[in-house]
Amino acid sequence: MNENALYEAIFKRKSIRDYDPKPIDSNHLEEISTNLQSLKPMVKGIKTEFMIISPNQVTRKFSNKAPHFIAVFSEAKDAYKVNIGFMLQQMDLYFSSNGLGSCWLGIPQPTNDVVDSSDLEFIILMSFGNSKEALHRTNVSEFKRKLLSDITNIKDADELLEPARLAPSAVNMQNWYFTGNKSAIHAYSYRAGFARTFVGGSYYSVNMGIALYHLQLAGQHFGWKTKFVFDKSKDKSPSKNLDYIATVERAFNL
Ligand SMILES: Cc1cc2nc3c(=O)[nH]c(=O)nc-3n(C[C@H](O)[C@H](O)[C@H](O)COP(=O)(O)O)c2cc1C
Repeated sequence: MNENALYEAIFKRKSIRDYDPKPIDSNHLEEISTNLQSLKPMVKGIKTEFMIISPNQVTRKFSNKAPHFIAVFSEAKDAYKVNIGFMLQQMDLYFSSNGLGSCWLGIPQPTNDVVDSSDLEFIILMSFGNSKEALHRTNVSEFKRKLLSDITNIKDADELLEPARLAPSAVNMQNWYFTGNKSAIHAYSYRAGFARTFVGGSYYSVNMGIALYHLQLAGQHFGWKTKFVFDKSKDKSPSKNLDYIATVERAFNL
């Protein structure tokens, strides 16, 4: 995948919900399958599986007429849902930068046959196909997002945190907060309250992985070599409502 194009897609992508129901051409579908096998993990050593499935293998999809869906499965290990957010966001940006629409889907579910066909835990779906609506935003002001000052107290890393700010999240919760500095950014997630555990709260970890992928891609774009560290001792949580997720370190000797 062309990482420059993925980086540029951060500033124009949007969730697509109106599709041409016709399947996309088979060459493109093959390229997508190949890409699904080469997604970069955030956490090494977690087994994952990405299956392309068809509309008749998805329930509760309401008016979503997408011709294709990706069903994602993972081994249940530390930070596995963050890892899935990080991996599948690579596809969301790939679709947007290759003329196709996509949408993360937490509400629709795969049929039992699909779920039973994997030994791993089912995590989430993503729809994709040719879009019937405009594929891109033309201005960053079209993103409905919190202000940068609401999601971080870091003053010298806007080029990394602005891409994280624009990340998609379930129910647009944007449950992230960043502290530290340009060399070590600590990522936290707001804790989902009781009501939120039913509406989007179960995807807080996935959302964190999505934002961390945007952050890492931006770091790479600006010549950083980044490394993720999961070290609770780095937790300097600025509030009781925030759970430490990971630290993004600038690494000099990768
Ligand atoms: C983990 C996750 C689950 C989502 N589930 C759904 C869903 O079930 N249905 C839907 O229409 N959109 C879903 N979305 C899309 C969000 O509503 C959307 O990303 C958010 O409102 C921001 O809008 P944007 O993606 O157009 O920037 C989901 C997004 C994420 C990241």
